[in-house]
Amino acid sequence: MVSRVIPVDPFDLVIFGGTGDLARRKILPALFRRYCAGQMPEGSQIIGAARSDMDDKGFQKLVKEALEEFNPGPKPDADQVKGFLGALHYVKVDAMGTDGWRKLASKMRDGMVRAFYFSVAPSLFGALAERLHSNGMVDPETRIVVEKPFGRDLETAKALNTSLAAHFDESQIYRIDHYLGKETVQNLMAIRFGNMLFEPLWNAQYVDHIQITVAETVGVQGRGEYYDRSGAMRDMVQNHLMQLLCLIAMEPPAKFDPDAVRDEKLKVIRALDPVEPGDIVRGQYQSNDTQTSYLDDVKDPASKTESFVAMKVHVSNWRWAGTPFYLRTGKRMKARSSEIAVVFKETPHSIFEEDAGRHRNTLSIRLQPNEGIDLDVTIKEPGPGGMRLIDVPLDMTFSEALGPEAEVVTDAYERLIMDVIRGNQTLFMRGDEVEAAWAWTDPIINGWEARGDRPEQYDTGSAGPEDSLALMHRDSRRWREIRS
Ligand code: BG6
Repeated sequence: MVSRVIPVDPFDLVIFGGTGDLARRKILPALFRRYCAGQMPEGSQIIGAARSDMDDKGFQKLVKEALEEFNPGPKPDADQVKGFLGALHYVKVDAMGTDGWRKLASKMRDGMVRAFYFSVAPSLFGALAERLHSNGMVDPETRIVVEKPFGRDLETAKALNTSLAAHFDESQIYRIDHYLGKETVQNLMAIRFGNMLFEPLWNAQYVDHIQITVAETVGVQGRGEYYDRSGAMRDMVQNHLMQLLCLIAMEPPAKFDPDAVRDEKLKVIRALDPVEPGDIVRGQYQSNDTQTSYLDDVKDPASKTESFVAMKVHVSNWRWAGTPFYLRTGKRMKARSSEIAVVFKETPHSIFEEDAGRHRNTLSIRLQPNEGIDLDVTIKEPGPGGMRLIDVPLDMTFSEALGPEAEVVTDAYERLIMDVIRGNQTLFMRGDEVEAAWAWTDPIINGWEARGDRPEQYDTGSAGPEDSLALMHRDSRRWREIRS
């Protein structure tokens, strides 16, 4: 038995933007799966709130269709769908005006956990926070959930934080980075802090370098307008890759509690050196026989926005001085593959005369697909013929080690929404973390803009631009193969 359902209290969850893309693709299917797992208690209600004219029935129909389209796996069981839809309601609300707010307030019930999910453009965050407050819907137990992008630079992030802080305490604000909800990302903490084996070696003395790769095969997927204003740096590095870097590099928190964990992550971000322009490579994917180019996808032949970025980063503290972190992420790459690899140093001396090669251990943590952990170790090649050494992976693919149930990986949104209801902020970003991440990212982006740098073109289905390979080669290192 792998999964265990920890009950949560009954809740009223309002999803602003409840008819939108994210709600239909991710939030509502995630809630449905929690319902099917028996985690959504009897008496809970989910209220879609949006501008469209719709009643409960219309919303239920929309959600039913979303479940058919976006819930992975076999067709959902009709009785379960019916039961879930019965918990759904709809209120037409004008985020910037006054319509609908009184009705929404009347739906809120005393004694329930109350959460408001802002699945809308960040420009509406302030207005929603203010109206929730002025319509008497906020008590100390109320939570709000906000989606990325949380600003597009330090200034806008600060403004968002200020507008939310006017009506909510930091302990009520849940800033989602869905990477923190991924199963293996949490496993990172379990591996580091639940084993004696790794932590003593987890520093510059033993680790040669660390690679973090988040490669996607998809392009901008009809989000060209948003993406072209963001690019890989804002869309992926400032949040997802930065969070992975923090979890790998942070000191052990004294306990697994939201502020203890987030304090340590913040220290990592603040210890990041500014990145030299020569240590970053940007790219844009080109077309091939079947797929269009980045410039076609965003409908701007002059766009200088990157769909790929690779960089060398230094964490300036005692633990990591001298150990580079190489990060890369891109769209339309050769495989969908996200992994973190901790590459240890070579043995200082070989006692085996016939051993021509030098050996290093690599611990790789596969985020997706095929969640699992590999540890490359050096062993004697079996059979006669002397002491010949080879490197073999000790592979722990979760589904093999833990049985078929582990193949069903809980989606990040399922875990994160349930954490909101439980009131656990550990896997959410605190305001100061987000601001620190922007403070590090801003000068990099400003430098590109000031210099008018153009990204290098790379082939769709490749490992990224040539220069990103050179970024490693010049340090006598190599990127790991991208494969799913
Ligand atoms: C989102 C980005 O935050 O993460 C997308 O905006 C990206 O551009 C996505 O495709 C990747 O998430 P995942 O879970 O598919 O790795």
